Amino acid sequence: MTLSHSYDVRALSPFLGLEVRGLALSADMSDESFSVLHDALVRGAVAVVRDQQLGPEDCKAIGRRIGKLEPHSILHYRHPEHPELSYITNVDKDGNVDDYGANERASGWHSDGSFKENPDAVAFLVSVAAPSRGGPTEFTSMVRACETLPDDLRQRIHGMKAFHLRGAGWKGEAKTPPLTEQQKATGEFNGAEHPIVLVHPWSKRETLFVNPSHTNSVVGLDKAESDALLDALYEHSINPEFQYHHQWRPGDVVFWDQRCVMHRAGRGTPSGEKRIMLRTMVTCEPHHLN
Ligand SMILES: [Fe+2]
Repeated sequence: MTLSHSYDVRALSPFLGLEVRGLALSADMSDESFSVLHDALVRGAVAVVRDQQLGPEDCKAIGRRIGKLEPHSILHYRHPEHPELSYITNVDKDGNVDDYGANERASGWHSDGSFKENPDAVAFLVSVAAPSRGGPTEFTSMVRACETLPDDLRQRIHGMKAFHLRGAGWKGEAKTPPLTEQQKATGEFNGAEHPIVLVHPWSKRETLFVNPSHTNSVVGLDKAESDALLDALYEHSINPEFQYHHQWRPGDVVFWDQRCVMHRAGRGTPSGEKRIMLRTMVTCEPHHLN
């Protein structure tokens, strides 16, 4: 496509993350702008656009151009007027800063919703309030992890599946906020099996799809073998060389692809400082997982 506007796209780390400058994100952004954003997400797996002013309607409209909006499973995280969106915040309803929440919540590596039959595909966060230092969001490239696996390990996991269950990683069940009876009745939280190596539907590149928070076990292996295999995959994947850490400023918008990136909330938010993001989560067609 011939672009009518100039955009500056630069790499944020050797294997992960592209920042796009010259983009103004909004509900009615042009097809050209959207395709520049989407292309950065496909190529970078994490796409960063700074200095934006996005409201809930903008987030919903952009989310719908990527896929289908997916409300957060934890009801009290949801935006009160826009339940398709949710907040990440360390500020409680009385305005107090919760220092424990700021530095512990979501601090384990994970991919959102990997435990669903159709896992989340993309999420993006809009920074509303950012600490003066600390509290990054950290990402690691599972494409890079996959392509650098030792040959024997790579051959071994081809065709294997893993069982994912919400908060029930291989080291045992984490404390997760309870589900409602209605949510349990949907069967959506009963866990799901997914191939350990996926071919990403957009980039057509192979990626590892396991994560310490929700991947419970490797199908067909006993507990000891499964744990040892997952240990080896995580040890390999959580390599600083494969990572990008995003240090937040208000107005930042960060998109990432859940299917080929693990993420976690970094620690170090100074006591009493606010860290607030508005989150949009999206699913896409599930065919790539089967
Ligand atoms: Fe997350």
